[in-house]
Amino acid sequence: MTVPHPMTSAKYFRQALDELNNNNLKQLKTIHKHALDPIVLAHFCERMEDLFYKEALGLPDYTRLAYFNDMSVGGIVCRKRPSSQDGKLEIQILTLAVLEAYRNLGLGTKLVQNAIDQATADSAIAQITVYIPVESRALSLFERLGFAKSDQPVSGYFGSHEAWLLVKQV
Ligand SMILES: CC(C)(COP(=O)(O)OP(=O)(O)OC[C@H]1O[C@@H](n2cnc3c(N)ncnc32)[C@H](O)[C@@H]1OP(=O)(O)O)[C@@H](O)C(=O)NCCC(=O)NCCS
Repeated sequence: MTVPHPMTSAKYFRQALDELNNNNLKQLKTIHKHALDPIVLAHFCERMEDLFYKEALGLPDYTRLAYFNDMSVGGIVCRKRPSSQDGKLEIQILTLAVLEAYRNLGLGTKLVQNAIDQATADSAIAQITVYIPVESRALSLFERLGFAKSDQPVSGYFGSHEAWLLVKQV
């Protein structure tokens, strides 16, 4: 027997993505505090908080909040930078997080799929990359969306921790 997800057993629910702006930035910070892997939280959101959130606000097509009904419950932060491919750019996903009670509803997939759709529509973008801690359970989500994993873990990306580099050509 299939057990319904507690958050979708209500008769009406709405899922949506929205741009990040100065009015909802605090909501993203709260989601990060509660949902991110402590390694990622320390690396981006705490170690270089001002720069990190400034960059997040600077890429509104990609950096999004995910809503369940009218509550923000997830978010993705990306940045644009030169890629290893001549003259092209890449989108790097810095953080992806959904509050625990709202996981397995497809919101994480929606956030990453939006970045893929935006990057695919822009001929200047060659690829999307993301580093995740080796023990992260997000690996299957990215692989399902067509990201390829590095052969070997990368050392030292998150301080002393090892990470997978995942790449998707667009
Ligand atoms: C990784 C993370 C963002 C995924 O968020 P999510 O909203 O649960 O993601 P989704 O619901 O799209 O997908 C999760 C799983 O639910 C399943 N799923 C997708 N849509 C579903 C739906 N409508 N109903 C039930 N299950 C669903 C998927 O099969 C997926 O499983 P898989 O990834 O093993 O293939 C979330 O687990 C999280 O915040 N983790 C902590 C932070 C983290 O690790 N971030 C990544 C590195 S920065």
